[in-house]
Parts: sequence; structure tokens; C-alpha cells
Amino acid sequence: FNVPVPVNEPILGYAPGSKERELLKAALAEGRSKVTDIPMYIGDKEVFTDEKINITPPHDHQHVLATFSRGSKTHVQQAIDAALAAKANWENLAWEQRAAIFLKAADLIAGPYRYKLNAATMLGQSKNAFQAEIDSACELIDFLRFNVSYMTEIYKQQPPVSPRGSWNRVEQRPLEGFVFALTPFNFTAIAGNLPSCVAMMGNVVVWKPADTQIYAASLIMQIFKEAGLPDGVINLVYVKGPDAGDVIFSHPDFAGIHFTGSTGVFQDIWNTIGSNIHKYKTYPRIVGETGGKDFILVHGSADAEVSSTAILRGSFEYQGQKCSAASRVYIAKSKWPQIKEYLLRDLATLKMGPTEDFTNFINAVIDEKSFDKLAKYIDEAKKAKGVEIIAGGNYDKSKGYFIEPTVLVVDDPKYTTMCEELFGPVLTVYVYDDKDFDKTLEIIDTTSIYALTGAVIAKDRYAIDKATHALRNAAGNFYINDKCTGAVVGQQPFGGARGSGTNDKAGSMINLLRWVSPRTIKETF
Ligand code: ALA
Repeated sequence: FNVPVPVNEPILGYAPGSKERELLKAALAEGRSKVTDIPMYIGDKEVFTDEKINITPPHDHQHVLATFSRGSKTHVQQAIDAALAAKANWENLAWEQRAAIFLKAADLIAGPYRYKLNAATMLGQSKNAFQAEIDSACELIDFLRFNVSYMTEIYKQQPPVSPRGSWNRVEQRPLEGFVFALTPFNFTAIAGNLPSCVAMMGNVVVWKPADTQIYAASLIMQIFKEAGLPDGVINLVYVKGPDAGDVIFSHPDFAGIHFTGSTGVFQDIWNTIGSNIHKYKTYPRIVGETGGKDFILVHGSADAEVSSTAILRGSFEYQGQKCSAASRVYIAKSKWPQIKEYLLRDLATLKMGPTEDFTNFINAVIDEKSFDKLAKYIDEAKKAKGVEIIAGGNYDKSKGYFIEPTVLVVDDPKYTTMCEELFGPVLTVYVYDDKDFDKTLEIIDTTSIYALTGAVIAKDRYAIDKATHALRNAAGNFYINDKCTGAVVGQQPFGGARGSGTNDKAGSMINLLRWVSPRTIKETF
């Protein structure tokens, strides 16, 4: 069988007065008008508990959208049991049948659920309509369709050489055990991708989303079910991290983790897995995409308008809460006055407010913890020597967690906000002398504890070549004359090394190969 050759899902524009805008507005109004009670999904059961937690929009934290049921260690154990019970049937199902389920899920999102899923992302995660369309609907549809095509390629790989008298073959087995998927708040597409690409390869999954993502994640689970995903293949639980960790990482059938989240949590998990290694039947697969401190480097030959747009979009789309977001920028002195002028001009046009008003480019940051952390960095910058705040610097959490897009200019390229991950709309600029381009490359490389994304903006081909080479370990996704965000599935496989993860490239065959364990068979005639 061949599956359809994927093409990227066309992005809807939501122009004023368009039918799609009206449909999205209706989905938002519906989402706001009722308080849903969201269950966990374990085996064939929808599980509710007495401990109800409110879900509120980050831009309107007094409005209750929904409640979810907090689970316990018992629910994690039940989810593992349900996964293992579903395993034999699922892994014996022909891969074409598994493919059909995920292709149908993609069609459901592209069609009847598009507005509901975008509305859930807008309300639950405070992402504006345009970002929700790109980062949630289209990217998830693409993950599902492209992964199915990569899966096909894996199962149809050319067999090894077989000299006369023997037949050598390689079987792509699912992992022996269950896989744990841990998903972050910031991308609905990642929420859908992490468990589904593992399941696609014949594995069973226990899935724990961030609490701040449950509103959209539970809808994805419903869509997978409607697409025909059998009970128990993916089990969705809302438990605290330590409760999940205690049960999962001490289980003999733990076979792997598919993670996107913070570097610290991933390192703790890796340690726990290491100290439990003797308990497992097999070495678990550890796949993680973690932090980022992504950069844009502007050379003296760069176009100022291109640079300013790349910086503004790379830093402030979705309030800078993308692991790929630009948060440190190095600009050649000769270009700075013009780039600064364009940047301040364009920043002044950005409106901030709730997602339901489509004219707001900037919405709220995800929660109070994140707000307080960012406010602290801004306060410290206000007092620090050698730091100038040229835009923003105000914040207000009375109604929602709003932080103005803030630009700091520093005279020390190792100032804290040039090195630490902030995960919010705070950009730090360092202006370097044009003659110090090589030195700046070295500074970027040596301060890149993370290495997820980066960009160089230049017209000079020698400068582009030099940066591409000198920064080859400083970013897993490197962009030339573009922002450092917005990797498209099927176009730019995504992931980084160093403190940014295991670089197993989400939305690629490399990633899917982590979820199979090949068996070589030789038959002699
Ligand atoms: N894949 C997302 C981006 O590139 C994180 O922005």
C-alpha cells in the first residue's frame, strides 16, 4: 500500500468578515459559555475524581472554562495496566490500519474540529488566532500526515543483502513495554504529536500533558478516539509529575519516554531512569526536546528591515513562549540605529490583550509562576548597570498575566538575560563592533548552553558561510536570513542538542525510528 504524499495543510487567514473568522468566533463563544468537566481517559473509561482543578484563560484568570479531575498514583498504575492490556492487539494490527486512524484524525482536525481546537488553544493557552491556526491546527495535521508517510517508508525499507541460499530480513518491532509521553503547554501540535507518533509505530502510551494544556489535550484525545483509536492505546492522565514519575520509572515495562519540557525536569528524569536501570526489561528510549536560548545574529551587511521583522516575530510571537523563540540578539553597530528605529516603530503597533479580540498580537503569558519570573528579570534589569530598557518593561496581572514586549540593550554579552532561558516576551540585544564579527561568533558559541535554534542575517556570503560553520553546534535548527522560529513539518525537521535535547527531530523519520526496535532474521535454505 502507499499512503497519500503529504502536502502541508494550507493556513487559513481569518480575515475580518471571513467565514472562517465567524466560525472561530462561534467556537470561542461556545467555549466560554459553559464549564466542561474534563475526564481522564484510561482504557475504555472516562475517569473523574473528586479533586477538581479549575482551568482558566491566562488572559482572564477569573473566568472558569472547565475543570479537570486530578489523578493519583493509582490512576497512573491503571493507565499502565490498560496500555499493557491493549498492547498485543495493537501491535499485531496491520500498520495500514494504524495509519488509517491517524490520517482520519488529521482530516477531523482539518475539517470539523479545526475551529474548536483553535478556540481551545486560544482560550486555554492564550495564543492568538493566527498562531493557533499555524502552531496547533496546521502543525498537528502535518505531524500526523507526514509521520504516517515516514512510517510507510520505515516499513517498506529496502531489505538487507541476501546471498543465494539465505534470506535476510529486518522486522521493525514496537518497543517491549509502554512509553510515557510528557507534553508541554505551549504547542497543541506537540501535545498531539508526542503520543501519536509513538502509538503509530505499534506502541502503547501513558500520556501526561502539562496542567495548563489539558483543555486542548483532552480534545485531541477525543479526536483520536473518534478516528478509531482503540481503548488503552493512549491513556491520558492528569497527575502531578512526582506521582507519575514514582510509578512509571520504577515499572519493569517502562520502555521509553517522549518528552518536551524544561531541561531541569528532563535531567532529573534521566537521573531517575539511570538509577532504576536494573529494574527494566530493556534499556528505555529517552527522547527529549528541552530548553532553548535562541539567537539571531545580524551582520553588518544585513538588510535592516528583514532583520527587524525577524527579531520582532522571532522574539514576540506567542509572547516568546516558543522553545525556538529568539531571546538574545547580536547586532552589528553599523546596523543598530536603523534596526532600532524599525523595531520600535513596529513594536508600537502591537496591541496587547485577550485572544478573543483578533487585533491583539500579544496575549498573556501562561501562568502566574511564569509571570512572576519574568517580572523579576525585568525588575532586576531596571536596577542593573549597563542595561537600558528601550521598549516595554511594564506588566500587570490583575486580570490576566500580561507582560509588555520588552527589549533590553546590554553592554555585557554575558548579562544574565543573554544566557538564561526566560521563556517570555523579553528580548536582550547586544550591539557589537562590526570588526568583532569573529569574536561575536565565539561568544555566541561559548554561551550556547542550549542549542536549539539560531539565525544569521547577512548579505555577505562569506559572513553567512563563516557563521554557519562556527555555530554548527550552537543550534539544531539554523536559519539564514529568517527568524529562528516556525519550523514547518516536512520542511525543517526540528530539534537541538546540548542542553536543548536529544535532537531526535520531531516530525521526521529519525524520531519515528526511536519507537521501533529492529529484529534481524536470517533464514538459511
Ligand atoms: N517547531 C516550533 C518552531 O519552530 C517550536 O517554532
